[in-house]
Amino acid sequence: MLRWMTLLTDDISRLASGEPILADPNPELAIGAARFSAYVGFGPSLFRKLGLESQMPSGFGPLPSFKVDQLQDQFSGGDVLIHIAADDPIVLSHGTRGLIRDSLPFASVRYSQSGFAHTPGMVPAGLTHRNLMGQVDGTANPKPGSEDFNEVVWIEDGPAWIQGGTQLVFRRIAMQLNTWDQLGTASKEEVIGRKLSNGAPLTGVNEEDAPDFAARHPNGLTVIPDFAHIRRASPQNVTDRMFRRPFSYEASPASDGTPDVGLLWTAYQRDMTKQFIPVQRRLDELDLLNEWTVPIGSAEFAIAGGIARGEIIAQALFS
Ligand code: HEM
Repeated sequence: MLRWMTLLTDDISRLASGEPILADPNPELAIGAARFSAYVGFGPSLFRKLGLESQMPSGFGPLPSFKVDQLQDQFSGGDVLIHIAADDPIVLSHGTRGLIRDSLPFASVRYSQSGFAHTPGMVPAGLTHRNLMGQVDGTANPKPGSEDFNEVVWIEDGPAWIQGGTQLVFRRIAMQLNTWDQLGTASKEEVIGRKLSNGAPLTGVNEEDAPDFAARHPNGLTVIPDFAHIRRASPQNVTDRMFRRPFSYEASPASDGTPDVGLLWTAYQRDMTKQFIPVQRRLDELDLLNEWTVPIGSAEFAIAGGIARGEIIAQALFS
């Protein structure tokens, strides 16, 4: 593990600077950094295989199963995650290839899942990612860099290697767009509890945006229904929050044109038992969005704290 992490650390830092990795067979593809970033995470099965269970962060372990789950092995689990991102698809592909090549002496590939978000500059300032159901996604997130974010995401105690790190829950969630597309705007907004146009909560009735919604709620009072996604997902206590970072995915449509799309849904937190799990339990009990979404992949990974130049990813764990 230490030798593998030493190689990956060097590769990631070079790629993030737009440089080729050592012995790169395609150095001409290192055309720039394009905000290349990568991090490495460790699944519960890795700790078990290496007898390192005592090094697991508090609350971390295999997720319980949920009623909504229809998980497939090909999208789930894994000992080690390498999550790679870049603003340019060629830079991303080149970097991914290099990291996989340098990993092969130590591991084999269980799966690779590709996702995407907007091209930088496509979304007006103030709006976040729009997912393939058309919703503005990520509005109620803690703001990166804020005190709030630090408290929600970065782990403060436990084994030294995880301090300054975090826990990732990854879910591949399929969207049933054929039936979703049969809903009108007002119904779609009711399912989430937010407006499609700008992601604002349905706290007032806007005739222009949702005339039939206004007719059904003449008082205009409780306009976010009890079954709405944000009513069920919003925090019920001080701890059950997380930082969500959704990417869309799109695979080949079926021969009848049925789309195969959804979210590579990721959430970062200090303790998944206190943060993700209670929220997912509430959504499992009641969330109208479940009619059009199905989790088909699931995994969890512990991510080591960030490092300074000259250090190695998760060095304290594997030394
Ligand atoms: C395909 C699946 C999903 C879709 C399309 C979806 C979509 C959305 C949208 C559009 C919002 C409102 C905007 C925002 O604040 O980001 C939202 C909010 C939220 N979602 Fe989801 N979501 C999905 C799955 C999940 C899952 C699996 C969880 C957690 C277990 C979750 C937790 C949350 C939370 C905590 C909020 C913020 C609620 C608030 O405080 O207002 N979502 N989601």
